Amino acid sequence: MNKRILSAKHVSNFENMFKCPICGSSIKVFEYRSLVCINRHTFDFTKYGYINLFPRPIKTKYSKELFEARKRITENGFFGLLTETVAESIKNHVKKKDVTILDMGCGEGSHLSQLCDNIGSHVTGFGIDIAKEGVLIASKYHSNQIWAVADLANTPFQDKQFDVVLNILSPSNYAEFKRIIKCDGLVVKVVPQNNYLKELREFYFDDPEKQSYSNTETIDRFCESFQLINRSRLCYSVKLEKPFLPSLIQMTPLTWGVTEERVNTVLQKETVTITVDLEILIGKTF
Ligand SMILES: C[S@@+](CC[C@H](N)C(=O)[O-])C[C@H]1O[C@@H](n2cnc3c(N)ncnc32)[C@H](O)[C@@H]1O
Ligand SMILES: [Zn+2]
Repeated sequence: MNKRILSAKHVSNFENMFKCPICGSSIKVFEYRSLVCINRHTFDFTKYGYINLFPRPIKTKYSKELFEARKRITENGFFGLLTETVAESIKNHVKKKDVTILDMGCGEGSHLSQLCDNIGSHVTGFGIDIAKEGVLIASKYHSNQIWAVADLANTPFQDKQFDVVLNILSPSNYAEFKRIIKCDGLVVKVVPQNNYLKELREFYFDDPEKQSYSNTETIDRFCESFQLINRSRLCYSVKLEKPFLPSLIQMTPLTWGVTEERVNTVLQKETVTITVDLEILIGKTF
């Protein structure tokens, strides 16, 4: 059976969770080909299995090359400790028979896929991203999850559907998160901390301090919307050998606008040790 049909069959088990992103009415899988609403708005499954639920074509700055690089770096274990830590938190806080997780801004899908594998077969993962280039890779390599191109500020889901909302290094829309999360649901937001990729910033900028991250506002805003039940910092370093350096520089928006000369200083190294410094915020709805 081809991927389009397999994916449509999978989605049909969860179709009640979806709504039409245009008119908001319920939406059903039709002939294992499309999702169609009662007003006939139609969204086809692609040959890779994902659905495009963003109402109009959109080009973002996130390219196929960026997501491929992110996938390569992630598969090499760069974010391994992060996924393990997040998986443990979810296991500790969500003790249910069937668990639904939505990754908001899932990119190329490796985090969600690794998390679902780690947590267990009772979990169904949904990943959305506004960049088609990311969702395409996600659906190509991870068939066990449901993938869609969609805007996290206007998601194609009914109210109160998800046990866990994940949001890793991506923008947020807390009003929308609150709308689609179940009353006892968990929000896991991962934000960069001061030393995240600091070595790259040192190579790239004369004044790397200027480029450092300040999280105070992000954390305050999170706490206005959710009851913060845990906050933890995860800081470690990863040594990357020469063959991974092109992927390192391509995987991050930090490189956008940096001169070729600066980028070459990184590419010429034999190895680079890079700091991963992240904050994991875990919240519940009030
Ligand atoms: C730095 S990437 C992180 C991707 C992934 N979570 C990861 O950690 O590899 C930020 C992601 O947010 C996505 N994004 C930005 N605005 C979005 C929106 N309005 N709706 C959905 N995704 C969005 C981008 O397309 C991009 O994939
Ligand atoms: Zn509709």
